[in-house]
Amino acid sequence: MRVVMAKIVSAGLLGFSEATAHIHSGKLVAFGTETVYGLGGNAVDGEAVARIFRAKGRPSFNPLISHVPQADIAFGLGKPTPLAQMLAAAFWPGPMTLVLEQRENCPISSLATSGLDSIALRVPGSELARAFLQEVSLPVAAPSANRSGRISPTRADHVQDELGAEADIAMILDMGPCVEGLESTVIDARGQKPVILRPGSVTAEMIRDLTGVQLEKAGHDIVSPGQLASHYAPRTPVALNQSTPKENDAWIGFGDAPQGKAHAVFSFSEKGDLIEAAASLYDTLRQADAAGAKRIAIAPIPAEGIGTAINDRLSRAAAGSLALSD
Ligand code: TXA
Ligand code: MG
Repeated sequence: MRVVMAKIVSAGLLGFSEATAHIHSGKLVAFGTETVYGLGGNAVDGEAVARIFRAKGRPSFNPLISHVPQADIAFGLGKPTPLAQMLAAAFWPGPMTLVLEQRENCPISSLATSGLDSIALRVPGSELARAFLQEVSLPVAAPSANRSGRISPTRADHVQDELGAEADIAMILDMGPCVEGLESTVIDARGQKPVILRPGSVTAEMIRDLTGVQLEKAGHDIVSPGQLASHYAPRTPVALNQSTPKENDAWIGFGDAPQGKAHAVFSFSEKGDLIEAAASLYDTLRQADAAGAKRIAIAPIPAEGIGTAINDRLSRAAAGSLALSD
């Protein structure tokens, strides 16, 4: 069988306008930054974000970084703190990601933020990356453009080898080899003291020299939110793999409408589409949680492709209420 590979296009005006059209139509574009190549999609479009997870073959949904061309755009999405402003003035554009509280009207898809109230934002140091983001003029969600569990790519041909055969990846923007080659430093800047969630080339010493704050040792003892057993658990108990609703249930279906009565009826995807289900996952869980039911009963979701990540997230949502599953 002949596999069609994503085309590699040199960064430049023509490449940018083609790439922008792809991002606007919900497709994915791999692009270079100073750290590693990212697999980019429209961060506001939940289905585009779901395609990122599917293309990477990620077994769970870690929150993603939203990339923007300027600090003031980042601060339009996340609430700046004095600490965040100080860090941004010193290290943006550059290999640093700030975790901030989302603004009330933040349009980023809840799949990109894993249903958290926070958001991770980055203004890349690479001028080509910023020119691309400027042209797109939407926040671009982008994890490293490798298959889940593999090494991050630092050249366009690495991306081609890893992910070139993925149908949703419309093109690879070649921006040359990455100068840093290591993922950005992730800093929680919501409080008064910076907390390093992931070490990178903006080092603890650099942050200490800037802020005058001696940092606690970070890294192995701080768990990224995607890894926590239960970071978004509804208040209502959750029962998975249900075949029919009970009367007091908020039902969340997938595919066909439920047989029998329920307190309230929702669906991850009425047409039984896993991409649509991933995109609507957190919003639907929140709605079901707000429905005033005794229990949230969820239909079985096929554990294939991105369905694996959906089931991973659902089992975390149900972690505190397993006794109720039957
Ligand atoms: O250098 C980079 O940061 C690259 C390039 C493409 O920009 N991107 C990257 O993305 O490494 P990714 O998805 O592989 O890593 C995102 C990191 C994860 O460690 C994740 O847990 C953390 O950012 N993160 C994202 N949102 C977060 C949030 N709301 N709170 C805490 N950590 C968050
Ligand atoms: Mg990665």
